Amino acid sequence: MLRVTVLVSGGGTNLQAILDAMDSGKIRNAQVTSVISNNAGAYAIERAKSHQIPAFVVSPKAYETREAFNDALLETVRACRPDLIVLAGFLVKIPEAMIAEFRNRIINIHPSLIPSFCGVGYYGLKVHEAALARGVKITGATVHFVDEGTDTGPILLQKAVEVREDDTPETLQRRVMEEAEWVLLPQAIDVIANQRRNGEDAK
Ligand code: GAR
Repeated sequence: MLRVTVLVSGGGTNLQAILDAMDSGKIRNAQVTSVISNNAGAYAIERAKSHQIPAFVVSPKAYETREAFNDALLETVRACRPDLIVLAGFLVKIPEAMIAEFRNRIINIHPSLIPSFCGVGYYGLKVHEAALARGVKITGATVHFVDEGTDTGPILLQKAVEVREDDTPETLQRRVMEEAEWVLLPQAIDVIANQRRNGEDAK
């Protein structure tokens, strides 16, 4: 059974999609064993608690320096003994020491088709504002492995979503979540847990 630690910062709808997919059997041989948030007010923590999953808060505000926060985050992750770390709307830069220690075992969901609308400054609603400002007709979501760059690691899965004439950043964000993110992230975990190639059916 793959032990999964999910890192969150906000509402946690992607966390919920993972938990629902585990409950319904869409993700096999994996279990969310812990959730870590950098934000004590994140609704994602409630979602974890209602699933009886231990949730930990490691907030930068509680530490004097960034190094001290990074050390505490890494210590907390280590204590969770994850096989896989999933960044599900985690808006903090992952410390290099964590990337080195868990290389190829950290995945992230990004709400665009990388390499469009990604990198430093592109997160949450800003991604969809930029996509609408550029006038793209297709956007989507990407699950990728995390390396030292911002949104630069190897791509695991992508799914396209149509942009509509009357979209606002909010309506586009919602459609990208519903049609792409909540499908892709559980699928990526299932692929990793069961060592299947992209899209291959389970035997
Ligand atoms: C999601 O749209 C996720 O793709 C995005 O934050 C949102 C979190 O929502 N992540 C990024 O922008 C990372 N660069 P959630 O808390 O409801 O899952």
